[in-house]
Amino acid sequence: CERQDEKPFRQRLLVVANRLPVSAVRRGEDSWSLEISAGGLVSALLGVKEFEARWIGWAGVNVPDEVGQKALTKALAEKRCIPVFLDEEIVHQYYNGYCNNILWPLFHYLGLPQEDRLATTRSFQSQFAAYKKANQMFADVVNKHYEEGDVVWCHDYHLMFLPKCLKEYNSEMKVGWFLHTPFPSSEIHRTLPSRSELLHSVLAADLVGFHTYDYARHFVSACTRILGLEGTPEGVEDQGKLTRVAAFPIGIDSDRFIRALETPPVQGHMRDLTERFKGRKIMLGVDRLDMIKGIPQKILAFEKFLEENPTWRDKVVLLQIAVPTRTDVPEYQKLTSQVHEIVGRINGRFGTLSAVPIHHLDRSLDFQALCALYAITDVALVTSLRDGMNLVSYEFVACQDAKKGVLILSEFAGAAQSLGAGAILVNPWNITEVATSIAQALNMPPDEREKRHKHNFAHVTSHTAQEWAETFVSELNDTVVEAKIRTRQ
Ligand code: G6P
Repeated sequence: CERQDEKPFRQRLLVVANRLPVSAVRRGEDSWSLEISAGGLVSALLGVKEFEARWIGWAGVNVPDEVGQKALTKALAEKRCIPVFLDEEIVHQYYNGYCNNILWPLFHYLGLPQEDRLATTRSFQSQFAAYKKANQMFADVVNKHYEEGDVVWCHDYHLMFLPKCLKEYNSEMKVGWFLHTPFPSSEIHRTLPSRSELLHSVLAADLVGFHTYDYARHFVSACTRILGLEGTPEGVEDQGKLTRVAAFPIGIDSDRFIRALETPPVQGHMRDLTERFKGRKIMLGVDRLDMIKGIPQKILAFEKFLEENPTWRDKVVLLQIAVPTRTDVPEYQKLTSQVHEIVGRINGRFGTLSAVPIHHLDRSLDFQALCALYAITDVALVTSLRDGMNLVSYEFVACQDAKKGVLILSEFAGAAQSLGAGAILVNPWNITEVATSIAQALNMPPDEREKRHKHNFAHVTSHTAQEWAETFVSELNDTVVEAKIRTRQ
């Protein structure tokens, strides 16, 4: 994950996340090939000059043998990545189970799975035990690589138990924790059988960050109502120890997208796609195939729009990129079949011999094809039922400075708080409202499109991922210094 041409960073930053930003493929007993996945977090940290980042996380593969583990550790070290090896059973119980079947749906207001509503069920207890065990394994690796003065930045709902484990190793460690999902209302969080233990563990961190002020407020309310602690304007206080809680909205590396648009491969893709869909307005959805993304609701809204606007039927196409994700979790398997069924029915209903209204792809696109698609789109549909932030909306805006297309955005995505003034905000559960917004977007006059785009483009290009990372880490450093001063007084 290192950018070779940069000067050495000064402070070491240990970034701990469930998944390393690489995909590892085994080529032989002791040989691996690694591919860096350039997600938001990686770009953010590559752009930060003040720190030297190292990554600690799961490589996403099962490596049961010592020879394979040693070889992978060595290969990853060249990318400044350090693996945590999790066996299949732990991955099943911790990642598929507690993280993706319990915390993920709960934090997105989809509730707990029926069979886990009782704290006493075996599966809940064993999954929570595996969650704690996995977090302890992450802590062991962090502790092994920690050097005095390092900053440790823990990420996401997979690692809520980690701050506590780290502080037990070393109370002087500077520990920050950031949640990339929403933190739900305290009334939702209190349904979780392990609600108090998780809150206490997170509060062991020095700084706790969220994408929006609302999520931070929900977290503080959960601590006051469930744990009976005192909420202050700075955070949460427990027996004289203050955990600072604040909002740090993430952004993207907008220059990377803007620069890509000028490159010959992206320009080539743009020409091909424009030719392919000539005479039709292009609507675009790009989502992981996840229930929080509201893909069935979005497609049903598009069907309603076609039903109510017959003159648009052969003049518009919806391109839905649905990237498969967490395919071992049964809820995700059900969703895939459901989406296929709806798309098939609508294409059967409104398709002709020469064209279908929905092009649905169950796969990801490479960066260049994605940039081209963003750039030629007329209307983007980001209609998540809940979403921590949603950076697809940011990426679309970054690629639209020429076209000035319209963004239809869920009011339940964190991004609604930053791009709300330029987007058409919708309630994704209200299919009639979304259908009406599609018509409004397709018919929007150019001057209004320009005005809305300008607002969003200014935001996306000035609130970048790099700035987000710098702000969080410098705030973490300051928080620790202030806490020391307070203790001395
Ligand atoms: C969300 C989470 C991330 C996670 C990503 C992909 O954005 O906040 O932590 O890495 O989804 O999910 P996966 O389960 O494939 O890592």
